[in-house]
Amino acid sequence: MKKYPCIQFIFILLLMIFTLPGMAQTKITIHADQPGAKIDKAIYGHFAEHLGHCIYGGIYVGEKSDIPNIKGFRSDVVSALKDLSVPLIRWPGGCFADTYHWKDGIGPKSERPSIVNVHWGGVTEDNSFGTHEFLDFCELIGCDAYINLNVGSGSVREASEWVEYVTSSNESPMTKLRKQNGRDKPWNVKYWAVGNETWGCGGNMRPEYYADIYRNYSSFMRAPGMYKIASGANVEDYKWTEVLMREAGRMMNGISLHYYTVPFDWQRKGSATNFDEVVWFSTLLKTLKMEELVTKHSAIMDQFDPKKKVGLLVDEWGCWYDVEPGTNPGFLYQQSSMRDALVAGINLNIFNNHADRVRMSNIAQMINVLQSVILTKDKEMVLTPTYYVFKMYKEHQDATMLPVEIKCDKYTLGAQSVDAVNCSASVKNGVVSITLCNLDPNKSQDVSFELTGMKLNKVSGKVVTAEKINSYNDFGKKEEVSIADFKGVKIAGGKVTAQLPSKSVVLIQLQ
Ligand code: AHR
Repeated sequence: MKKYPCIQFIFILLLMIFTLPGMAQTKITIHADQPGAKIDKAIYGHFAEHLGHCIYGGIYVGEKSDIPNIKGFRSDVVSALKDLSVPLIRWPGGCFADTYHWKDGIGPKSERPSIVNVHWGGVTEDNSFGTHEFLDFCELIGCDAYINLNVGSGSVREASEWVEYVTSSNESPMTKLRKQNGRDKPWNVKYWAVGNETWGCGGNMRPEYYADIYRNYSSFMRAPGMYKIASGANVEDYKWTEVLMREAGRMMNGISLHYYTVPFDWQRKGSATNFDEVVWFSTLLKTLKMEELVTKHSAIMDQFDPKKKVGLLVDEWGCWYDVEPGTNPGFLYQQSSMRDALVAGINLNIFNNHADRVRMSNIAQMINVLQSVILTKDKEMVLTPTYYVFKMYKEHQDATMLPVEIKCDKYTLGAQSVDAVNCSASVKNGVVSITLCNLDPNKSQDVSFELTGMKLNKVSGKVVTAEKINSYNDFGKKEEVSIADFKGVKIAGGKVTAQLPSKSVVLIQLQ
């Protein structure tokens, strides 16, 4: 080598270039000069069904419980949800909604009939949590309410009377009943859905038939400022969206879409915490399908509603695994790990990026069911990795979406590859918030940012990451996953660079 000093120099130079710390593999351009749609805070919505211990034990323990509570609502849960700035909660289901008769859940608790929860474990539902309890709970945590009406086993009259009971300030039999039950003022409930999964547990209907049912119900749902929601497609049932938009699009404000992430398929859901990198990869790949679904359903909606008046509402999403060993299979109780944090971060980025059409999403479900933000066991409460992602992402609520261009490395496993980094950005009160997911569990990602149309002075960040892909928070143990300050972001000469840790969800704020 000594004979060829020039070759030696070139070799050292190349080595330096390829190993230089901070050398960006990912380039992100944020177009602050081309602001997009408002990111409706409802994209950060939740779903609470009468299923397992979501309502009973999770939200509601009753006033006589020795678990600290405010009028029967768990105090620890109330304060954790307030911290999350929960914008809205969908209730009472899910499949449960189409078996629910709201009059069973009003009046003195001792007189409320008990029913069998036929979908979820066949357990007794004593109706002690009904309309008043749900709406009082929403008032307590300061969020909007979203009520899902019963179409499958209900009637137009039952639905229209529920709307009247809740929202009317007139003199009527329903408002008289409400006052007798202790509530003078109407509640301000904006969001109302006509049935749930009407293609499945909500009645096994065809889209043409349901479109007419929707038109019928919607004609008798009258309240000022109401946001009417049609029961939308399952996954990639594009025909459903097409028929509904064609036949009833002008009578709705929103149409739903349901898509759950299962690691492989419904027969191979696997454990929430015991999995390897193959399963990690597959879960994230399945999550990224949300981008395709939202894009394709939106394109169909564009044909019938080019002005984008009707919202696409992903009112059920999240990971669905095998239930925790030893728990009731009908209760859908599962743990939540670092993998779920990535799933939440990716989905929320997708929704932010499609804020012109996606106006709401509801993670399934808020407490103790599927991809929950909170788990409870008697007096104990655990905040899951998903909780911390929602907490970081709340900066996007009602902010203005900023278009993002991303050039990044691939995360490859075997013969399959995905983009290693997933991202969205928004601006609110002069602060740009960028949320990034590094899907690669083995490699950090060096990122350089370019921000068009804005001068930068200050950066800060937060991160959710963990030691292992399946790290999780458990009862009675120190938290393994939470939010930490992110030290890996720098600003120098107006240029921002960051190093995203492997398997991380990161918030960077610029101003
Ligand atoms: O979230 C659990 C169930 O999944 C809901 O009740 C139903 O709508 C969906 O199939």
